Amino acid sequence: MLVSAKEMLIKAREGKYAIGHFNINNLEWAKAVLLTAKETNSPVILGVSEGAGKYMGGYKTVVAMVTALIEDLSINVPVALHLDHGSYEGALKTIEAGFSSVMFDGSHYSIEKTKEIIRIAREKGISIEAEVGSIGGEEDGVIGAGEVADPSECKLIAELGVDMLAAGIGNIHGKYPANWKGLDFEALTAIKKATGDVPLVLHGGTGIPEDMIKRAISLGVAKINVNTECQLSFAAATRKYIEAGKDLESKGFDPRKLLAPGFEAIKATVKEKIELFGSANKA
Ligand code: 13P
Repeated sequence: MLVSAKEMLIKAREGKYAIGHFNINNLEWAKAVLLTAKETNSPVILGVSEGAGKYMGGYKTVVAMVTALIEDLSINVPVALHLDHGSYEGALKTIEAGFSSVMFDGSHYSIEKTKEIIRIAREKGISIEAEVGSIGGEEDGVIGAGEVADPSECKLIAELGVDMLAAGIGNIHGKYPANWKGLDFEALTAIKKATGDVPLVLHGGTGIPEDMIKRAISLGVAKINVNTECQLSFAAATRKYIEAGKDLESKGFDPRKLLAPGFEAIKATVKEKIELFGSANKA
């Protein structure tokens, strides 16, 4: 059923490609990402922020929906269900509900809390992502100024035994401003050197130019998070449908019709990313 992200990330790191982490918001999102992963024969990570978990009704609902979709749609590629930017309480609750992977941001707690979450995750065979250096921009009310992580701090956290490490390298959530300086590859190289074999995670995957994505993967990034880009393509396709007056024609107001262009747009975005990240046919 759901798998830990550990193995897929080790394979990705060794094969020099990255696994896409796509945030989901509802049934259409989950279905679009799962079907695209199946069609491209790619392993995939479904990301759920605490806000999105609440929106969907709660973590148990999310687990039930995703596991049932995997079964009903015969999804035959590895799928990890991952808590994105988790608090201590959020990590415990999602582990309890049946998530197969969690991200824990321990920066607001003592290091003991990170150790505790690692221990629980280990016992349950769940993968764990830690974050060093805040990732800029705003996501679901979590606001980060955007810092470049300190390699020695990354080393310290990596040595605790996390399965993947998100380190800030000038990346931010949401759209990049016109004057964005790009990813800091010097910092990425130093972080990689300090952390050894731990697969690195790049947040804020929306809008990073292709050459930078490829270079980041070549330097040790094995998981790339994408959220806003699917939201933008969903919104644009839905806007087009409504502005063309399609919802007013015949039964065009039926949600199965109204949401269809947005659904297809998410699929196209996910496919494009999977191909760019190099994870197609790696299931
Ligand atoms: P974007 O919304 O910029 O794609 O970032 C997603 C992300 O990093 C989720 O954790």
